[in-house]
Amino acid sequence: MNKYLVLDEWNIIEKGFKPEHHEASESIFSLGNGRMGQRANFEEAYSGPSLQGNYVAGIYYPDKTKVGWWKNGYPEYFAKVLNSTNWIGINISIDNEELDLYKCKVSRFSRILHMKEGFLEREFVAELKNGKKIKVNSKRFLSIVDTEVGAIRYSITPINFDGNISIAPYIDGDVKNQDSNYDEKFWTEVGKKIYKSKACLNVKTKKLNFHLCTGIAYEIFQGNKKVETKAKIIEKDKYIGFDFSVNCKRNIETVIYKYAANVSSENYNKDVLTSEAERVLEQALNKSFVNLFEDQKQAWADKWKECDIQIKGDIAAQQGIRFNIFQLNQTYTGEDKRLNIGPKGFTGEKYGGGTYWDTEAFCLPFYLSTAESHVAKNLLLYRYKQLDKAIENAEKLGFTNGAALFPMVTMNGEECHNEWEITFEEIHRNGAIAYAIYNYVNYTDDKEYLPKYGLEVLIAIARFWSQRITYSQDKNMYVMLGVTGPNEYENNVNNNWYTNTIACWSMEYAIKITDFVKNNYSEDYKRLTKKINFDDELEISKWKEIINNMYFPYDEKAGVFLQQEGYLDKEQILIKDIDKSNLPLNQNWSWDRILRSCFIKQADVLQGIYFFEERYNLETIIKNFDFYESRTVHESSLSSCVHSIIASKIGNSKKAHELYVRTSRLDLDDYNDEVAEGCHITSMAGTWLAIVEGFGGMRVKNGELHFKPLIPKQWDSYSFNISFRGFLLNIEVLKKQVIVTNNSSKFIEINFFGSNYKILSGKSIFVNH
Ligand code: BGC
Repeated sequence: MNKYLVLDEWNIIEKGFKPEHHEASESIFSLGNGRMGQRANFEEAYSGPSLQGNYVAGIYYPDKTKVGWWKNGYPEYFAKVLNSTNWIGINISIDNEELDLYKCKVSRFSRILHMKEGFLEREFVAELKNGKKIKVNSKRFLSIVDTEVGAIRYSITPINFDGNISIAPYIDGDVKNQDSNYDEKFWTEVGKKIYKSKACLNVKTKKLNFHLCTGIAYEIFQGNKKVETKAKIIEKDKYIGFDFSVNCKRNIETVIYKYAANVSSENYNKDVLTSEAERVLEQALNKSFVNLFEDQKQAWADKWKECDIQIKGDIAAQQGIRFNIFQLNQTYTGEDKRLNIGPKGFTGEKYGGGTYWDTEAFCLPFYLSTAESHVAKNLLLYRYKQLDKAIENAEKLGFTNGAALFPMVTMNGEECHNEWEITFEEIHRNGAIAYAIYNYVNYTDDKEYLPKYGLEVLIAIARFWSQRITYSQDKNMYVMLGVTGPNEYENNVNNNWYTNTIACWSMEYAIKITDFVKNNYSEDYKRLTKKINFDDELEISKWKEIINNMYFPYDEKAGVFLQQEGYLDKEQILIKDIDKSNLPLNQNWSWDRILRSCFIKQADVLQGIYFFEERYNLETIIKNFDFYESRTVHESSLSSCVHSIIASKIGNSKKAHELYVRTSRLDLDDYNDEVAEGCHITSMAGTWLAIVEGFGGMRVKNGELHFKPLIPKQWDSYSFNISFRGFLLNIEVLKKQVIVTNNSSKFIEINFFGSNYKILSGKSIFVNH
């Protein structure tokens, strides 16, 4: 835990410069616009510890797998999100001494992430060793309107001298990934073009041949006057710099505007990349920083109108949720079907930028309720398009007959992670992909999705489960052996309750949707059964046989579902009884000790109870919650949000609030001492869920919205917006009353605490609670 940020409703603020916080801040203050993103690295040189990160969505590197002992079936590569061309760099020196905050005296430092307007600002006074003092203010953003454009306004004001300052804006493609397996650089140069105050650098990846062209242009102003400069050009492999000096006056601001254009072979032919970068750059220059910035502020204001959540009476909670919503919107916009949501988004290298089950299990509902419906649909289609590869994945492991195993980590449908207990054993991810189809159709009522795409995926997944589950003579039941459940602090376990549950549910759902498509879309059904050679009677009877005879570990005495067979053989210690200096366990204990202990990394049984709550009565949910919450260390970011939702469900608002704060401020307060590696973007959607589904109690049942709000005692009120089947609603929960406003053009009926209410267009209703 590391609390050093100032509480504020709309901004993330760091005051005073402490190098030991720098890498954490580089993650937290990251910027993104769905197409590209970057860590909050400094523009000027910095020789202290730092993780450089500029990322372009969709560009990755298949780094050759590195393992101790190669085994058949291991993925060939681990994909890496690529640290790519740095376009923010502006070196500053005075009398041959470089401005470097690690080396000089820094005062009045502040770093602010302006979430309302979508930009990063930094200000400081630096005193160099030679006694020269300057004040610097920088503003930077990645445009969410012109998504190939980034812009910087960097101003320098001498405080105690008049004289020359040398300024060197540059573009640097000679960058590395910190996580490179063989300490290799992944980029080579294709070419460069240099003009008077403009340059383009074209680079390509050594494998897969992604091309990226980055153009930069700069302008210098003193007051309203443009300053003409004569720059020395510095040319190196994958590098272009401009170096010039400007005569500066005490207390007078010299402003450098730096514009960048990033275009890639993902969107253009390789041979036109340089001209496209020039075009985008030219447009940005013509628009100018001021207008680009105005557009940015307006576009963010529009976004916030759709998805803001307001919490009154608790600034920490308010700042937490806005930070989460801001980062989610910076990461994924849903405009490009080829993209997905990496667990760290654009904020770090960890997890390689790949797609995990996080998308389906956690992120989908956020986009369903806060964005247009094609956004969530694109997330589903992403997996549909990878179905062939998922079938290949399963074949590599020995499965047949069109069984599909979607990857645990992927860029293009291939499995690209190489930790066996995750890659091979966390097969529960297949269930989350089926569950997402259910969730999407239940929310949107887009039934057409099922005959066109959904059923094909569901059958392939059901085929996988029916082969992966085996029959135990000893138990005279079906069992699933050798899996890792969501709780990664247990590997290779038998009969993980969650995996068994979601596997059987996936088969049940596949049966239901098979019937639905057969009865309602017979032509599509015929086409599909022929395409995938589906013998419905035979295959479904096998699925039913398994569903009816599946083994689910359960402990009568405690009245809880057992995370896996044998879980109670472990020494049962509660978290409250261990010394806090042991936490986080993953940084203090050996892996061996973690595996042997009863401590749970993240929601596992409770993840299943969350998905399928309708099946369990309140008493069962309470027993399981109490049992597992007291053993869960929440060392996965995906954990506390689920526990918080269940705590709300059982009416434990104190615990729900505590867990909500943990999930929403996980990165801001660095609960698990790891934010320096990047922010937990996918779990941020879980934070949103903790409010909307947790405190708000929102569910969609039989095509109708249901709410059962409660309010934590620390809050005066909270409110959120929901877009649902063409309706726009605002739900405001006060201490004793809920106000629902229908901001759509038609009336809607919704259910509050079990009773139905009709709300006319443009009207509000008031419900006491
Ligand atoms: C969690 C996984 C998750 C991954 C990426 C891990 O720490 O245990 O469930 O998919 O992080 O977020």
